[in-house]
Amino acid sequence: MSDFQHLRIDRDEELAIVTIDRPEKLNALNAAVVAELGEAFADLATDDTVRGVILTGAGERSFVAGADIGELVEMNPLTAVQVSRTGQQVLEYIEQMPKPVVAAVGGFALGGGCELALACHLRMASTNARFGLPEVGLGIIPGYGGTVRLSRVIGLGRAVEMTLTGAPIDAERALAYGLVTRVVERADLLSEATKWLREITAKGPVAVRLALESVYHATDVASAEALRHEASLFGVAAGTEDMREGMGAFLEKRSPDFKGR
Ligand code: COA
Repeated sequence: MSDFQHLRIDRDEELAIVTIDRPEKLNALNAAVVAELGEAFADLATDDTVRGVILTGAGERSFVAGADIGELVEMNPLTAVQVSRTGQQVLEYIEQMPKPVVAAVGGFALGGGCELALACHLRMASTNARFGLPEVGLGIIPGYGGTVRLSRVIGLGRAVEMTLTGAPIDAERALAYGLVTRVVERADLLSEATKWLREITAKGPVAVRLALESVYHATDVASAEALRHEASLFGVAAGTEDMREGMGAFLEKRSPDFKGR
């Protein structure tokens, strides 16, 4: 694993915890952080000892307070397109990770922070979390996938409201909207996220990977194609040792020991 300036990568057995570590700027995403996230997730994707990833922010107040406005202010139309595409690619890579990624949101998830959380597969918030897309207030629009992913997660009406007003919502409302699916106290965020992710990493890793692939593939294609793809992946799962282990363990009334193959 590379050395990073703005990220900390910790291991807890089969889990990796990626912490964006720029608390003095509320973990705002400058170009260096975005590049490091890309590198870190590329490493984690291919590390077979890692079965799940938690993404979080350093400090008590913020997950990520957005893209770095000090950098954005220097953009022109050409460089802005590149900034957007680069961020989109890194977030897409996270969304396409072959292992589950949980965003543990312990404070502000604004702009690019909200978009980053949306690129993760699961979102847990602490009670002090605030989600929002404030970009229109800065004279720009969300550029890291926010206008695409938010409506898929919370529905068009709510997404339009959040995008056009820029007003943040609290954790309780984020839960009601389905933007997060669990809310816990700030002090318990990491331990609860760990426990939550372990509910998944205890399952068959190949099955988890194939299920993620099928669910996300279905968001982008017509139903008939999505169903065919699901059937193919169902077939792939049936060829794994994990399937024989999972079903064998059920029939023998014991816990499965999945090997991820
Ligand atoms: N980009 C760059 N710097 C940021 C930042 C961002 N998105 N968000 C926060 N910071 C910096 C502040 O400039 C400040 O740095 P300084 O101490 O060197 O001045 C530091 O983080 C702390 O933020 P501050 O604004 O003093 O904290 P606050 O508690 O008063 O307010 C926020 C917190 C999140 C409400 C406020 O920082 C904010 O509105 N940030 C921008 C959110 C945003 O618009 N994001 C989308 C960007 S596209």
